[in-house]
Amino acid sequence: MSELIEIKAETTGFGAEIGGVDLGSEISDEAFAAIRAAIVKHKVLVFREQHLDDDKHLAFAQRFGPLEGHINRSSRHSDLPKIQIFGNVDGDGNIIGYHPEKGTLVWHTDKSYVATPSLFTILRSPAVARQGGDTLFADMVRAYEDLDAAEQTRLDGLRAVHDWKRSREKSDERAATADEIAAAPPVDHPLIRTHPETKARAIYMGNHASHILDWDQGDGEALLAALERHATQEKYVYRHQWRDNDVLMWDNRCTIHCVTGYDAAKERRVVHRAVVQGDVPV
Ligand code: OGA
Ligand code: MN
Repeated sequence: MSELIEIKAETTGFGAEIGGVDLGSEISDEAFAAIRAAIVKHKVLVFREQHLDDDKHLAFAQRFGPLEGHINRSSRHSDLPKIQIFGNVDGDGNIIGYHPEKGTLVWHTDKSYVATPSLFTILRSPAVARQGGDTLFADMVRAYEDLDAAEQTRLDGLRAVHDWKRSREKSDERAATADEIAAAPPVDHPLIRTHPETKARAIYMGNHASHILDWDQGDGEALLAALERHATQEKYVYRHQWRDNDVLMWDNRCTIHCVTGYDAAKERRVVHRAVVQGDVPV
């Protein structure tokens, strides 16, 4: 039997490159199921040499489930609201000179500031920075597993408050608007969540997490900062260095991610993204 897809896993077990599939074509149910299994197993997938347009990107993403829009309307694609565009290039192809979503430069997991945060995010990059602009991922399952048992027990019952407004302040972004605040009031999620498919426990936090529920604000901030320092040590991190025509996909339930800096005044960097809706974290 021929392989449905080729899987080249990272030696760390975190991240895999998938070959033998054209995401823009009709993918068989079996090959799709293999991709679905691979994202759950490896947490981050890279597909090289893909030639997607926004319609094909959407069609692929929609097979994983309903897609969500973005709270920040200005990043929505003008005709396809389920595609968001983050880039330093305007509609006329001119460099605007700054990175448009500063919140992506700090460690986060997508949309953890809503009750049902993102499941998978699928990104393609029509313009790739030659230097910097890498996407980094941290494996929050391994980071949890390496904590000592007493620390795991201490964290297990805690809930973190996730807050879009506060997250914008921390990442030095334009302040949230009244509409955005109304659409995304603070929510709380378990600090340690159980992956519904693998049953693995993972630290669930990132920049959208503002503090620990029922804790002193400063103590909660300090705990979250310490956990982030722990989880983003190099041994837990996969670095994606973009090549033209890459598609990158990740499981937000067990990873956090960020973009590394690049010269936004000179280098063009544009990503188009589609985000699959997730469940209530438990
Ligand atoms: C995102 C994001 C990372 C990137 O789309 O959610 O954080 O590399 N993007 O642009
Ligand atoms: Mn993100």
